[in-house]
Amino acid sequence: MSTLSSKHSFTNPTAATVVFLFFAAKLSTILAGSPHDINFRSPNLFPEGLAWDPTGQHFLVGSLRHRTISEVSDAGVVQTLISDPSLPENVTILGLAVDSLNNRVLAAVHAQAPIPPLNALAAYDLRSGHRLFLSALPSAEGDHERAIANDVAVDFKGNAYVTNSAGNYIWKVNEKGEASIFSNSAKFTEHPGIIGEMYSSCGLNGVVYNGKGYLLVVQSNTGKMFKVDADDGMARLVLLNEDLMAADGVALRSDDVVLVVSSKRVWMVKSNDGWSQGVVFDKIDLDDEGFPTSIVVGERERAYVLHGRVMEGILGNSAESFKIEEVRFPRESEGENVWMYVMVGIGLAYFLFWRFQMKQLLNNMNKKIN
Ligand SMILES: *[C@@H]1O[C@H](CO)[C@@H](O)[C@H](O)[C@H]1NC(C)=O
Repeated sequence: MSTLSSKHSFTNPTAATVVFLFFAAKLSTILAGSPHDINFRSPNLFPEGLAWDPTGQHFLVGSLRHRTISEVSDAGVVQTLISDPSLPENVTILGLAVDSLNNRVLAAVHAQAPIPPLNALAAYDLRSGHRLFLSALPSAEGDHERAIANDVAVDFKGNAYVTNSAGNYIWKVNEKGEASIFSNSAKFTEHPGIIGEMYSSCGLNGVVYNGKGYLLVVQSNTGKMFKVDADDGMARLVLLNEDLMAADGVALRSDDVVLVVSSKRVWMVKSNDGWSQGVVFDKIDLDDEGFPTSIVVGERERAYVLHGRVMEGILGNSAESFKIEEVRFPRESEGENVWMYVMVGIGLAYFLFWRFQMKQLLNNMNKKIN
């Protein structure tokens, strides 16, 4: 009896509210945490491509010149997963995609001048690191520029789709490694590219496979997005409320939200009509010092951007430290906080009600005892 009575001050609703708000603040930081930056070191790695391997629970990154694919853990530990010295020296591993069905990683391979031209898709076993195939990507008739195999997406059957940033078309490589030109739509060249920018010569770039039978592809020098049928390659412009200029990498969340990254910002794009139209729901500016190029969705639907300092590498500088940065969108966090307060409010109401009942009970017991 005396122990219960001694907590009398706690029945004061103001004190209870203060305690609860304190817990609410604590709880929201514990649940959401602060955004996670993963710093990792690897001399002159200069990774451009980023993928998330859900089985291994780590990131995969390529390299500007090392002919490697490396694992990066949450704690920033780097390990070379694949090293392929049979590729020509200094060749670039660009876009990466994990084919979970076949337990392999697919990599867009590109040789930049002055190395002799090479554009290929390489497939490696994720466990052993053995190469399964290296498929040369064919040129289209009338190609007058050196092709650039840039990004790759994989569908649920193991077919890969690779963007050609110079020729503005898409290759397909089936699971056996047979390559063909898949989509060379006139839509891809309908809009004039911006002139005089570093990315002016870069057309089709980031690509994702949306589980519903189509690809979403962005184009750097126009800021446009296309929806491409994964069966017949037919392309349509996705009508957006703004151009995503310098768009590079793309990632898809399981709620159908598309994230697009450039070296300066991330756009969050939503559609409610199956990607005939889309709207930029939110955008955040990035620190462009690390030259962000790729974005992935990792564990718990969290978005991460790669700062691989590729431009410094192209300019011939050295660098050892690179970063994978978690990005959060203010508009979404606001929504989460509202829910947090609603939940805490309900909790508080329950608590006060419980206190009230306890008090009643005590009173009744006191009456009985006396
Ligand atoms: C590869 O790059 C290194 C350093 O940039 C250079 O010294 C070497 O000549 C290059 N090799 C080829 C085959 O281009």
